[in-house]
Amino acid sequence: MTGGGAPRVALGLVGAGQVGRAFLGQILAQREALAATGRMSLEVVAVARSRQMVLTKGTDGDATGALDLDLELDLDALAQHVRAQAAAMGGIAVLVDSTASASLPDAYAAWLESGIHIITPNKQAGAGPLERWDAIQDAAQRGGTRFRGEATVGAGLPVLSTLRSLRETGDEILSIEGVLSGSLAYLLDAWSRGEAFSEGLRKAAALGYLEPDPREDLSGRDVVRKMVILARGAGHRLEASAATVQGLVPDILTTGSVEDFWQHMDVLDAGVEQILTGVREGSASVDRCVIRFVGSLSRDGTVAVGPRALPLSHPFAGLSGTGNAIAFTTRRYNETPLMIQGPGAGPDVTASGMFSDLLEVVAAARTS
Ligand SMILES: NC(=O)c1ccc[n+]([C@@H]2O[C@H](COP(=O)([O-])OP(=O)(O)OC[C@H]3O[C@@H](n4cnc5c(N)ncnc54)[C@H](OP(=O)(O)O)[C@@H]3O)[C@@H](O)[C@H]2O)c1
Repeated sequence: MTGGGAPRVALGLVGAGQVGRAFLGQILAQREALAATGRMSLEVVAVARSRQMVLTKGTDGDATGALDLDLELDLDALAQHVRAQAAAMGGIAVLVDSTASASLPDAYAAWLESGIHIITPNKQAGAGPLERWDAIQDAAQRGGTRFRGEATVGAGLPVLSTLRSLRETGDEILSIEGVLSGSLAYLLDAWSRGEAFSEGLRKAAALGYLEPDPREDLSGRDVVRKMVILARGAGHRLEASAATVQGLVPDILTTGSVEDFWQHMDVLDAGVEQILTGVREGSASVDRCVIRFVGSLSRDGTVAVGPRALPLSHPFAGLSGTGNAIAFTTRRYNETPLMIQGPGAGPDVTASGMFSDLLEVVAAARTS
């Protein structure tokens, strides 16, 4: 596989949006350094978007050569091409899913079993149906391949790798708490500084922090997905439907179009005010608390997501803006939890989480 030099890697990228493009930029910028230090000799052999794909021509693994441009997207053909190029190089096949597609993960098990490693920032597999998740794990085992999704939680922050190493070194996870939504952190920060919630929402939209339908953020669904991924990483067999979630969308606004939603900001403000005031007043120290949107996993595997009033001494109280934070309380990190904190969204940091997955996958494949 190494041919005496750096291991050769044939990489296919599905999804060339904000994150996919940032990832491509980062790996190409480091390509020479990776080869020079013997880490890997990398060829990008396929790139796809929702309708088209570009493949390198031929089967000799020489991606600097001619390209088949503007082919209609055919994922089977793309996977076959990546596998064939890797085989021709005597190297490793890696596919990166940088979409948010719910259906693409249906193909992961077959790809993994056929010898392709998968890296993704897409939460759909890690938080989707357990049956599919189990099939992905089994297929990776059978295929001797790896599935990695570091960037699915906390973007580039080393959250899942830390969780894995805690467990692999024999520690026991007692609980995990996290502020895992940059957009909700921003909105609650603005609200707690006295801004109307809808005003913060408009600013967040203008800054590009929100999903096209802001209810995806406000409902807490995205945080539930991240908590399910963490719970599974901690060894619990959890479906997203088992999580308890308190979102910030008033019932009356849960249906209807996105345009309708934006036209009822008065209803949103009144509804959110009621929810958050209730949370604050339920706190032991009403005047000395801050509200954060928190996901928590208990030792028994239960997940709860929603706004929480935290004392000013809480490690999450000092967060501002879109910052993420994750606290692992374990048998070893007991009195003071192990904290990871930093920006939890943005194409560059997300891509760097995927890049570390790539380095890990290649290093592991080299020694196996
Ligand atoms: N942005 C962040 O800060 C961030 C942070 C953490 C995780 N993530 C995750 O990263 C992933 C990508 O996010 P993004 O912001 O880069 O999204 P994006 O800008 O919307 O890009 C998505 C890309 O996927 C392509 N695509 C969609 N469905 C596809 C399909 N079925 N087959 C092939 N290609 C498909 C799109 O094709 P077209 O170009 O043809 O539309 C587009 O190129 C998502 O799972 C997201 O949740 C993002």
